[in-house]
Amino acid sequence: MPPDPRAPFLTACRNEPVSRVPVWFMRQAGRSLPEYRAVRSTGSILQAVQDVDLATEITLQPVRRYGVDAAILYSDIVVPVAALGFGVEIRAGVGPVVERPFRDESDLDRLRPLDPEADCPYVQQTVRNLVDELGDVPLIGFAGAPFTVASYLVEGGPSRTHGVTKALMLGRPDLWARLLDRLAGIAIAALRAQVQAGAAAVQLFDSWAGTLSPAMYERHVMPASAQVLAGVADLGVPTIHFGVTTGELLPLMAKAGASVVGVDWRVPLDAARARLGPGVAVQGNLDPAVCLAPWPVVEASAHEVLAANGGRPGHIFNLGHGVLPETDPTVLERLVEVVHAWEVPR
Ligand code: CP3
Repeated sequence: MPPDPRAPFLTACRNEPVSRVPVWFMRQAGRSLPEYRAVRSTGSILQAVQDVDLATEITLQPVRRYGVDAAILYSDIVVPVAALGFGVEIRAGVGPVVERPFRDESDLDRLRPLDPEADCPYVQQTVRNLVDELGDVPLIGFAGAPFTVASYLVEGGPSRTHGVTKALMLGRPDLWARLLDRLAGIAIAALRAQVQAGAAAVQLFDSWAGTLSPAMYERHVMPASAQVLAGVADLGVPTIHFGVTTGELLPLMAKAGASVVGVDWRVPLDAARARLGPGVAVQGNLDPAVCLAPWPVVEASAHEVLAANGGRPGHIFNLGHGVLPETDPTVLERLVEVVHAWEVPR
């Protein structure tokens, strides 16, 4: 059964008034949960997502514990490129690591189009299982945006400066555009498969886009992200476009076409709204580090986030980035209660 379109999360995504502010947390599943550590054996997360029952269970854990308004599929942004055989693994405490980084034209051959049914059927099977289990709680599917995935393929691993990526972008704009076009096609195929399997919304993670100036973003990155968002528009599900340190990019991220823009904690929601313009819903934006502070501070900070939205429709409460692994789950539990207790103007 697909979830009720009037579910608070989906209603807020459409920028319509809700009876209570919906809330979920990026990385709500994962190392902060003891029940996650209990079921997760030593293998890589890329192996864990291939185990349909395990990925289903891990996705459900935070929904059971917190009563959040949405589930997010347990997977990773590099799953599609890994499934294509690009040679990506995820190292604990490091992140994605690429055996032979992307360097020249010949590497485009290693990025053939994604055929989700043949390359990663386990993802769609997990989505189908989840939709059966979740009832009226919407499931969010996701993909990595072309830039953020490219940054791993080009750098070979996480990078602070994204220097190699920017050098390729600026030095070989033609090759860069072809790389991003391939990755856009892969993201579209991945997202379409998740929605066709039952995901009720999708989030495009461009986590590292904030490393770019607005001019670089607009010229070298935005077209590929806009291509992804346009490539799923006919499916009619809400799209969330997210990155960190994107304060200066917010207007462009909205222009790329999503229904919701994710905002990190560096820009208060009222300022973010002014930059985004009307018609765009917002998601965010409590600093995940605040959750490590004493409870009264967490509560007051959550109230500040809610107040900064100013009672406007179209606010999905979230953290400004993923849950830190050292977060006490009890804090997130209470945070959900605080958000749900917030009185929305009618
Ligand atoms: O949000 C969720 O709960 C859904 C699951 C999810 C994961 N990765 C699971 C995961 C999502 C949405 C992602 C997306 C992702 N992966 C992003 C974009 C979001 C963001 O955080 O900005 C990025 C940049 C990646 C790449 C990646 N994968 C990193 C940087 C890491 C952390 C490495 C580490 O161990 O510190 C991963 C691994 C990863 N992805 C883990 C989880 C739960 C941790 C590894 C594990 O538990 O085995």
